[in-house]
Amino acid sequence: MSPKRALAKQLSLIGKSGIRDFFEIVQNQKGVISLGIGEPDFETPWLIREASIYALEKGETGYTSNLGLIELRKLISQYVLKLIGVEYDPYEEIIVTVGVSEALDCALRALIDPQDEVIIHQPSYVSYVPLVVLAHGIPVIVETHEKDEFRLSPIELEKKITPRTKAIILNFPTNPTGATESEQQLKALAEIVHKHNLFVITDEIYAELTYEGKHFSIAAFEGMKERTLFLHGLSKAFSMTGYRIGYGCGPKEWIEAMVKIHQYSILCAPSVAQYAAIEALSKGRKEMEKMVEEYKLRRNFLWKNLSSLGLTGCYPRGTFYYFPSIRTYGLSSRDFSYRLLQEGGVAIVPGSAFGQGGEGYVRCSFAARFEDLQMAVRRIEKWLKKIEKEANK
Ligand SMILES: Cc1ncc(COP(=O)(O)O)c(C=O)c1O
Repeated sequence: MSPKRALAKQLSLIGKSGIRDFFEIVQNQKGVISLGIGEPDFETPWLIREASIYALEKGETGYTSNLGLIELRKLISQYVLKLIGVEYDPYEEIIVTVGVSEALDCALRALIDPQDEVIIHQPSYVSYVPLVVLAHGIPVIVETHEKDEFRLSPIELEKKITPRTKAIILNFPTNPTGATESEQQLKALAEIVHKHNLFVITDEIYAELTYEGKHFSIAAFEGMKERTLFLHGLSKAFSMTGYRIGYGCGPKEWIEAMVKIHQYSILCAPSVAQYAAIEALSKGRKEMEKMVEEYKLRRNFLWKNLSSLGLTGCYPRGTFYYFPSIRTYGLSSRDFSYRLLQEGGVAIVPGSAFGQGGEGYVRCSFAARFEDLQMAVRRIEKWLKKIEKEANK
C-alpha cells in the first residue's frame, strides 16, 4: 500500500492553513511590506531574553514537571487573578503548555468524544476547526456579522445548540476581527451555556490588547469556572511567540485529563522558555504595557487612514488586526490580496482564510513598525486608485 493511502482518513477532512498558504507566495516576493503575520514585530524585551540566557548559563536545561515549573504556575495564578478576577490553584488547576496552540489541542482531545459538536464563531482563528476535526468532533459554525461588530449573538448561538453540542470555543478579543465582548454580552452567553449544560474553551490570548474599556472573561461569571477552560499565553502581549509558552486554567479534572495527553506527547514546555516566562510575569509588566500603548497608536493610525481610503470596517477594540470590507471592489478576498501583493507590494491576509464568513474582508495587521504602516497606506492608496481607474474604463 502506498503511504498516501495508508495515512489517517481524518486528515483528508482538513486543509492547509490559508494564512501559511498565502505566505508561501509572500516569501518569494522582494520589497513587500507585510501587514500579514499575526506576530508582534517588537523584539522580546531584553530582561526576558537575559533571563533565558541566565537559565542556560545555570544549566536549567532539564525536564520540568509535566504541569510546568511550580514557580511559574504560581505567577500565572496571580497574573490571571489580576487579569480576569478568577483564582486558580497553581497545584491542580493550571498547566503550562507549548503555546495556546498545544493547550487548545489538549483541551479538545481531553473533552471531545467522536461526533460531539463544538460551536465556533466565525470569522475565527484558523486552528479551531481543524483541531476539533482532529479530535474527532464536529465543528458547528455560528457566523458573526459586521453589523453586530462581529460579536457572538446569544440568539444565533442558541439556534445552533443540539443534544450533541458539548462545548463552545470563544475568542475575544477576536483574531481576525478585533471584536471584544462587554460584560453584559458575556453574561448573556454564560446564561445560555448554563441552560444547555455546555463547556467553554475561551482563548483570551489577546486579553491585554484591549484598547477600549476593560477586558472581561466568561470564566468570571457565577458558575462558569467549573465548566470553562481559560487559555492564555505570552506570545502576543509579551512578544514571545518563539518561546512557545501558553497555559490552560480550569477545573482540576479537565486539567488532569490534559496532563495525560501532554505528558505522553510533549512531556513539558521547554525549560529555558519557562524561566523566561517567570521573568516576564514577575518583572515584565511595564515593558508589556509600553508595547500595548504603541499598538493602540498604530491601531488609531491604520484604522483612520484605511477608512479614509474607503477600506471601512469595524473599529478594532482589541488585538492587532483591522478587518475592513473590500466588497465594493468586486474582487474576492483572495484576488484582492493577491493583486495588492503583486501590484502594490503590500501583504495582507484574505478574509476567506478565517472561514466562509470572512469572504468580502481582508485582515491587516498593525503589528508592524510605524514607518511600514505609513508606507503601506501610501502603497494601498496608489493601488486602489489604479484598480478604480481600471474599473471605470
Ligand atoms: C486567537 C489565537 N489563539 C492562539 C494562537 C496561537 O498562540 P500561541 O503562540 O500561544 O500558540 C494565535 C496565534 O496567532 C491566535 O491568534
